[in-house]
Amino acid sequence: MTVYEAIMNRRTIRKFTQEPLKRDDLLKLVDCARMAAYGANTQPLKFRIVDDEDTMDKIFPKTKWAAMLEDGAPAEDERPTAYIAVIGDTSIKKTFETDAGAAVTNMMLAAEEMGIASCWMGAIDRDAIKRILELDDSYELVYILALGYPAQRSRAVEMKDGSTKYYLDDDGVLNVPKRSMDEVLI
Ligand SMILES: Cc1cc2nc3c(=O)[nH]c(=O)nc-3n(C[C@H](O)[C@H](O)[C@H](O)COP(=O)(O)O)c2cc1C
Repeated sequence: MTVYEAIMNRRTIRKFTQEPLKRDDLLKLVDCARMAAYGANTQPLKFRIVDDEDTMDKIFPKTKWAAMLEDGAPAEDERPTAYIAVIGDTSIKKTFETDAGAAVTNMMLAAEEMGIASCWMGAIDRDAIKRILELDDSYELVYILALGYPAQRSRAVEMKDGSTKYYLDDDGVLNVPKRSMDEVLI
């Protein structure tokens, strides 16, 4: 798979098989995040791999899934099998969004190549998850990346009537409208 193919084929997946992810693969994803582009090379992020059942069960109720769908959240047997928490170290920097975006993107694309599906999660109860992860005040939880082997199909489709709303088709495939090249090239 080329990088171009990974970029074009990657879609957010919110339903996962319950086959566990390999620890080495999760470590490889963090390694890819570590090598991301960081403003002024500050590298202000830390990462926590979560794949134990107890912590996963505590985190799940603190996440929100597919705001645009009525039934977009994973059922109990479709939940992610790991999370990688992206954590800002305030002793290095105070704002993390852009750097975290670069780190998450590296992880999502590497995951795609490895056959691992992902969902970048920002609609999360940061304070609650910080407590679950026992992170002290010198850390800020920026995002979590939900991971697992895919149990859902999703594809990019041409945007119609300017609607950014993603939807399920009759085959249960998630359709994600993307703006056309004509629209984005100015
Ligand atoms: C910053 C950010 C936060 C996101 N937070 C959530 C989230 O909390 N829950 C969720 O289900 N999806 C979340 N997503 C996934 C987006 O809904 C998804 O990327 C978008 O619909 C486009 O679909 P695609 O990734 O398949 O291209 C987030 C994506 C980004 C970039």
